[in-house]
Amino acid sequence: MKIFITGTSSGIGLGLAKLLSDEGHEVWGVARREMKSVKYRYSVCDITDHAQVSKVMAEMEEAKFLPDVVVLGSAILPKDLEGSFDYEKSAQGFATNYDGALIWVSKLLPKFLERKSGKFIAVSSTSAKRPDIKSVGLPASKAALSMAFRSLRLRYRPDNIKFSTVFFGPVATPVIPEFTTKDGGKKFFFVLSAAKAAKLLKKAIFGNRDKYYFPFLFTCIFRLTLWIPDRIYSKISSKLKS
Ligand SMILES: NC(=O)c1ccc[n+]([C@@H]2O[C@H](COP(=O)([O-])OP(=O)(O)OC[C@H]3O[C@@H](n4cnc5c(N)ncnc54)[C@H](OP(=O)(O)O)[C@@H]3O)[C@@H](O)[C@H]2O)c1
Repeated sequence: MKIFITGTSSGIGLGLAKLLSDEGHEVWGVARREMKSVKYRYSVCDITDHAQVSKVMAEMEEAKFLPDVVVLGSAILPKDLEGSFDYEKSAQGFATNYDGALIWVSKLLPKFLERKSGKFIAVSSTSAKRPDIKSVGLPASKAALSMAFRSLRLRYRPDNIKFSTVFFGPVATPVIPEFTTKDGGKKFFFVLSAAKAAKLLKKAIFGNRDKYYFPFLFTCIFRLTLWIPDRIYSKISSKLKS
């Protein structure tokens, strides 16, 4: 299978790209950092830069690489509420987490429609469902991405183009140091390791569901607590993190 993944220079995306290429799938990854000696095809690309995205699209066309599945994993956690509200940081969160995902949909959807098959996977987060006292841009961009995928799913289901959303709970990756030990391990039992998260994300590639929640138990409990007011939930979760 041909799989295109954004955000393969670290964390879950890197784990997924390695896992799939080891299994013999043709993987093409992108991120901003240089990556040396990776087993899969890799292009340096800032997904917020349309010219760089077009360049990667041209490289894929040249290599006759039309993916069967596209995993939209690149994201940043804009800490735009640490002092006063920082609009620029927040906008960067949207440019990466929302526009930086939908740009690939806009480029690849016409080709998928022509072929009459294809699947897009949005890597979202439980933070799409709760506000964050340190960030406007993360929960808002993930909520927007999840909602965009609901519209796309509704519109393109008859054309056999699939839009799945994966909602992850906490994962031990560099983006959230509160969950991660110095050697990259997980700090709490309810946190997923990046390798386990990659294995779970693989289920969404080969599965048929519209939405996935990983890990199951944590996200079940999380969803059952959605009635708790934000102010109280925020206090409980910051106590748990500290
Ligand atoms: N860790 C968690 O607790 C958690 C929880 C829920 C959901 N998620 C989601 O899981 C996905 C992967 O996150 P992760 O935890 O594995 O974090 P990560 O290790 O920081 O990975 C993020 C990836 O996105 C890439 N990226 C960021 N900005 C980019 C840009 N402008 N252009 C291209 N690539 C860019 C980064 O590469 P470069 O810096 O090299 O560009 C990196 O490869 C994200 O969508 C995240 O929101 C994570």
